[in-house]
Amino acid sequence: MTISLSFIIAAGLILFLASRYATGQAIMRIPLKTKTLWNKDDVSLTNVNDNTYFGQIMVGTPGQPFNVLFDTGSYDLWVPSLKWPKPRGKKYRSSASKTFIPNGKKAEIRYGAGSLKGFISNDTIEIGGLRVRYQEFIEATESPGKQIYQRPWDGIFGLSGISKSTITGIRPVWRTMMDKGVVTKKVFSIWLRRYSDSAEDGGEIVFGGTDPQHFTGAHTYVVAEGTLNTFKMYSFFVGKIDTKVCSKGCNVVVDSGSTYIRGPPNLIVKINKQIEVAADCSNYDKLSEVISFTIAAKTFTLTPRDYIERKNGKCKSVFSDSATNFWQLGTPFIRAFHTVWDYQTPGTVKVGFAKSK
Ligand SMILES: *[C@@H]1O[C@H](CO)[C@@H](O)[C@H](O)[C@H]1NC(C)=O
Repeated sequence: MTISLSFIIAAGLILFLASRYATGQAIMRIPLKTKTLWNKDDVSLTNVNDNTYFGQIMVGTPGQPFNVLFDTGSYDLWVPSLKWPKPRGKKYRSSASKTFIPNGKKAEIRYGAGSLKGFISNDTIEIGGLRVRYQEFIEATESPGKQIYQRPWDGIFGLSGISKSTITGIRPVWRTMMDKGVVTKKVFSIWLRRYSDSAEDGGEIVFGGTDPQHFTGAHTYVVAEGTLNTFKMYSFFVGKIDTKVCSKGCNVVVDSGSTYIRGPPNLIVKINKQIEVAADCSNYDKLSEVISFTIAAKTFTLTPRDYIERKNGKCKSVFSDSATNFWQLGTPFIRAFHTVWDYQTPGTVKVGFAKSK
């Protein structure tokens, strides 16, 4: 989720945290749900979109609740500031928090459509039952456009585990959680469910481990590199046709902040030509070709149900242009494959995938 605001906007997520429960020391499962006790007074939450996932965090003491998009494609946490002249929605009120420590340094995140602006503050962040003290984050005061007001979430929670955001210099929350021993196991995992499978539980993020209920078999791990955990994907087939787009290896990140699977435009055109889904869904039931690719020498397949977005009688491929030269496997991929980010080996990040259930 590093690319453009339209990307954020497209990522229009709609899940809510309905309950929080600890299942053991320093493990936190965050169910992402479509209904919550809290959404009654959050107007923007009425626009439900199947492909949008978010959960709730608390900022400050006592905790002020915010719905955030948990985004493995970015670094920083931002929530709207009371100083943001936005007409509605939740806003962080630092004066109401006993644990607030001012910083005030200006911060800016550039998106395609403009800049999200604000300043840095330092406070306690509660994620499920895990408390992260003295965490810096951005109090946003200005957005790149008004579309962001329509989003059902209040802010974005970057899940990168690098030591400093390359944009703001802030230590990402997940890095703080690991460094300060907030989690005993340096692992988090994401399970996302199809909206059509359940109107209630939308998915789950586990900080400190994995939830065996939501995957089958063992994870296939790949060593990832760089600030957003990039790895290689090979042998991209549509049905039996080798598209050759990743013969030499494509650079890929798993991006929970993207509603699509994005890749370089010329390659996406090539893939979508092979898919040939009718916009009116007339051939949807006849589509049988799986899309497959390899990661760490293991083949992963996506069925038409995974790679076609079917909404209001319209069908389209989830393969979409990216402005970057790397691929982003967004929520359609995570729905098919439960994904784990494993930081247990010092200096190495491994990303693992197992069939979701
Ligand atoms: C937050 O404030 C505390 C107390 O002043 C300070 O020790 C800590 O370094 C600050 N956190 C960061 C990440 O700067």
